[in-house]
Amino acid sequence: MNFNELREEKVAEIEGVLKKYLPNASNHQRKIMEAMEYNLMAGGKRIRPMLMKETYEMFGGTEEIIEPFMVAIEMIHTYSLIHDDLPAMDNDDYRRGRKTTHIVYGEAMGILAGDALLNYAFETASKAFDMKKEDSYLIGKALQVLGKKSGIYGMIGGQVVDVTATGTKVDKNVLNFIYDLKTSALIEASMMIGAVLAGATAKEIMIIEASAKKVGLAFQIQDDILDVISTEGVLGKPIRSDEKNEKTTYVTLEGFEKAKEQVETLSTEAITMLQGLNRENPYLMALLEKLIYREK
Ligand code: IPE
Ligand code: IPE
Ligand code: MG
Ligand code: MG
Ligand code: MG
Repeated sequence: MNFNELREEKVAEIEGVLKKYLPNASNHQRKIMEAMEYNLMAGGKRIRPMLMKETYEMFGGTEEIIEPFMVAIEMIHTYSLIHDDLPAMDNDDYRRGRKTTHIVYGEAMGILAGDALLNYAFETASKAFDMKKEDSYLIGKALQVLGKKSGIYGMIGGQVVDVTATGTKVDKNVLNFIYDLKTSALIEASMMIGAVLAGATAKEIMIIEASAKKVGLAFQIQDDILDVISTEGVLGKPIRSDEKNEKTTYVTLEGFEKAKEQVETLSTEAITMLQGLNRENPYLMALLEKLIYREK
């Protein structure tokens, strides 16, 4: 099996896990379950749950407790996208190859679907306690990481500065701050939770965090690049959204070539840091390498 086939198989596995943990659409509030599922199951790349599982396995993890956390991170990421696309934010009408949630279900339901995914993420992750009581401390630590990296010191904090900076020119320091939080934080959470649940040491978790920070930064710079050079058909979301919203990006600040170089440099540094841990996961290394040249 080549890398792409293996990756597709892993994505299919992750989607199976997502389906398993979805709420049943029933009762008077069924609309919200539908709206939650509409974008969650639209088919993203599933990078975050994949990084989580691969990091977990790299540290020798084999248990099912990783599953509710894989679902939780993808739910939080999906909620961040639903809200990011709202008229009050990036005002985009296309996501994961479909009309955005607020276009199909209305703005109120878009807001509520995001809120619901965030809340249900923690409801889901906490199911790990019932699966393996002996690991309660590790599960509690993983929840702590999930909360912090999603919140004001993480993704939300980054989105706040991103929105505030819209329409102004920001310098590289501020841009790095925004990217560290709005994008790296959830990637850090993904990899750190994998490490935490597998019982990695504090030092190992710190290295994972530092490596994931670079992966996240590279990921967001590539996202900026694709916003300029790709197509809506390939990306499943509108191109030129950053220009429309007058965002400073790595491309506007550094130029296209330099941005591309940064993606490569950061990713290589991230891989080297992981290799220094002396743990085996060739698939994870290959995935990080592939992400340098990702086209969507
Ligand atoms: C998009 O994330 C938002 C960013 C942080 C760049 P992804 O590119 O992972 O989106 P999906 O999950 O594949 O749709
Ligand atoms: C979004 O960054 C990061 C999030 C936390 C959602 P972007 O606004 O660049 O993401 P896209 O391009 O809409 O996916
Ligand atoms: Mg945005
Ligand atoms: Mg956006
Ligand atoms: Mg973007």
